[in-house]
Amino acid sequence: MPCQKREIRRADALRDKIIALDTKLAEDFKAQISVAPFLSRKIVSFQGNKDKPAYSWYKYKEAFSAELVTYFLGGYEGGVCGKVLDPFAGIGTTLFAANEQGISADGIELLPIGQEIINTRLLLEKDLTSSDTSTLERWGTCHPWKRFPERVPFSTFRITERAYPLETVDAIERYRGALQQEREKIQAILHLALLCVLESVSYTRKDGQYLRWDARSGKRRPGTKPFNKGEILTFDSAITAKLKEILRDVSDANIPATLFPVRHTPQEQGGRESEARLFKGSCLEVLPTLETGVYAAVMTSPPYCNRYDYTRTYALELAMLGLAHEDVSNLRQKMLSCTVENREKDLLKMSPQWAPFIEAANQQKLLQTIYAYLEHEKSAGTLNNNGIPRMVRGYFSEMACVIGECARVLRPNARLFMVNDNVRYAGVSISVDLILSDIAQALGFEVEKILVLPGKKGNSSQQMGAYGYVPLRKCVYVWRKR
Ligand SMILES: C[S@@+](CC[C@H](N)C(=O)[O-])C[C@H]1O[C@@H](n2cnc3c(N)ncnc32)[C@H](O)[C@@H]1O
Repeated sequence: MPCQKREIRRADALRDKIIALDTKLAEDFKAQISVAPFLSRKIVSFQGNKDKPAYSWYKYKEAFSAELVTYFLGGYEGGVCGKVLDPFAGIGTTLFAANEQGISADGIELLPIGQEIINTRLLLEKDLTSSDTSTLERWGTCHPWKRFPERVPFSTFRITERAYPLETVDAIERYRGALQQEREKIQAILHLALLCVLESVSYTRKDGQYLRWDARSGKRRPGTKPFNKGEILTFDSAITAKLKEILRDVSDANIPATLFPVRHTPQEQGGRESEARLFKGSCLEVLPTLETGVYAAVMTSPPYCNRYDYTRTYALELAMLGLAHEDVSNLRQKMLSCTVENREKDLLKMSPQWAPFIEAANQQKLLQTIYAYLEHEKSAGTLNNNGIPRMVRGYFSEMACVIGECARVLRPNARLFMVNDNVRYAGVSISVDLILSDIAQALGFEVEKILVLPGKKGNSSQQMGAYGYVPLRKCVYVWRKR
């Protein structure tokens, strides 16, 4: 048989095997999978925070809504009593929404922009004096940066060069100069406001895997059509509006009303007020340092296995926070593998105790067949990027370690809630929900529910063009530690 035909047959056989194993796994979890009409796309995404004081300051597209956290920690099966953990804390939605319920929460976050937002919000929650408020009001009305003589430049690297109109660069540099005259707390708030407006005053738009560049910047990704993002705000109008918004939210003593206001009293928390703590760094490094059996729940959403590169999408903010090109490259390698550039992490070197976790991923039959298929497609030269098999393998091995660690730090019977998306590569749908649930079962969890969002998610345009449309599930997994 000619070589090419044999290869096509092998690919077909692997695809058939994937479909058969996927069907079998779906059958195994049939009793747990259900469509959850209350889980709208809005509540599971940042959209749900759009009008929510404080949560809406910084548009973190990858965030989930505070209502989702409130529902699972407060309203679901009697709620949670005890401390909560989010190993992928983002801008801290779990932390702040848990605190609103009177629940303490710890978060781990690696990306400096998420860390900065969380830390500044924590600072703001400690009482803001009337003198602080007047200073911020003065900034919003008198614009002291406009007349400020000294500019403080900010760093750029290749992908952030020429991101702003020249007059905007001048205004930002003066703003950075002027804010240095203020007390530390005010500086932090002014800096937060600056980070919140960068996208709106730039030539860029955050768009999934990368930044899109408006044609007015003079930059264009090869092979893409000219793009116009619409109005680019002037720095003065954007920052003034943002300062007003922040001031309004912090001075309104009205704590945001929650959908499911089930508050735990300090008495229920052992006499303590709820608090939020941030661990800066990779959860792969921080999780092993946490005590065993202390958390009452994990509420989280890891990066999806979808090639989205946070270090590129948030490049403007990372540059403003002072990171250089090499810092960003190093950061990319530390992130959970979800881009084609991620190299393999030496997980056993990070923690020899993870051998059983990695083995659980290696024993997952559907996953192993998906790996074999992707490797086959790589050798056949049909993948649009040869880094895809390594990324998928890295994603599931690292997630197995995170799941194993979460099982360790949770109390018996405590729940883990996880938002995640299924993905599709080389024409094959990867049931991330079923595979991770199967791994979780092997690592000490009982899979209580796989709650599917109504309406399915689409595929990338590449997948759609090459293989046609196949709907993908977006889910919230509910696992309980056995
Ligand atoms: C889907 S987002 C979570 C958003 C969060 N639920 C919120 O509402 O803001 C995933 C987060 O994981 C972070 N992340 C990626 N790799 C990480 C790692 N190894 N350790 C800790 N955080 C990581 C990303 O920076 C991102 O903020």
